[in-house]
Amino acid sequence: MSADRPLFPHEIRAALKSRTIGRRIYYLPEVDSTNRIAVDLAKQGEPDGALIVTDYQTAGRGRHGRRWESSPRSNLLFSVILRPDMPSNAVLPVTLVFAETIAASVGRWIDTPVWVKWPNDVLSPGGKICGILAETSTRSARVVTVVVGVGINVNMPAGEFPDSLDYPAASFRTLTGRRHDRRDVLVDVLSRLDDAYATFVSKGFGAFASAYTQRLWMMGKTVEYCFDAARERGVVEGIELDGGLVVRCGGKRRILYDQEVRVV
Ligand code: BTN
Repeated sequence: MSADRPLFPHEIRAALKSRTIGRRIYYLPEVDSTNRIAVDLAKQGEPDGALIVTDYQTAGRGRHGRRWESSPRSNLLFSVILRPDMPSNAVLPVTLVFAETIAASVGRWIDTPVWVKWPNDVLSPGGKICGILAETSTRSARVVTVVVGVGINVNMPAGEFPDSLDYPAASFRTLTGRRHDRRDVLVDVLSRLDDAYATFVSKGFGAFASAYTQRLWMMGKTVEYCFDAARERGVVEGIELDGGLVVRCGGKRRILYDQEVRVV
């Protein structure tokens, strides 16, 4: 069995000192998807920073229509409702900021290098350790809400990752050989996100670009992607301040935004 104690919300509240993220906490022992709940709550007017956290999802959402699987009470599964006042095309860096900030926290617990895979996966030497899914609602080209959902593999044992994954997955436990207190990890991640979000809102992605680029696993690697309906290969050169991935393809400089990018 891999189950830990539940993530009791009063314990999170007692340990978390934050300005925005997690000032309001909804805890559900089991839910279909925290992102789904967060999107609904956002429509009902939940404020900036509201947190929805669960111990188990029956229909966790991943990027590109995939599912996010996690055994009961073994990992971190949460969504944050954000209301940054910005144009809708400026949202991509929010998820990059989340990835960089969570990667910094993960590194503290597993004591190995931790990378980001553009746009917003967090990778460890053993494989993907965190996934982030942002769902944005906009009006008149401005952001109304961004729901950022985060799954961090903490205490999942190797044998419980689904066979169907198209990438290797790792958890704090598979990397360190021991369990970690999910509440402590959650509080650390949320406090860092709270600081990072405040910095992002006041200074923009520029405050994170150098840290993100240094952590970028794809930097200098050849990647394959779709551009103007054709498959293409190029070498990753960096990140634009709007979050786009800069790729050199022969003599051409490409900036990628929502394409799936694969290292070859
Ligand atoms: C990915 O495909 O890498 C993104 C995975 C995001 C999973 C998290 S778990 C909590 C939140 N609720 C969801 O339904 N999905 C996100």
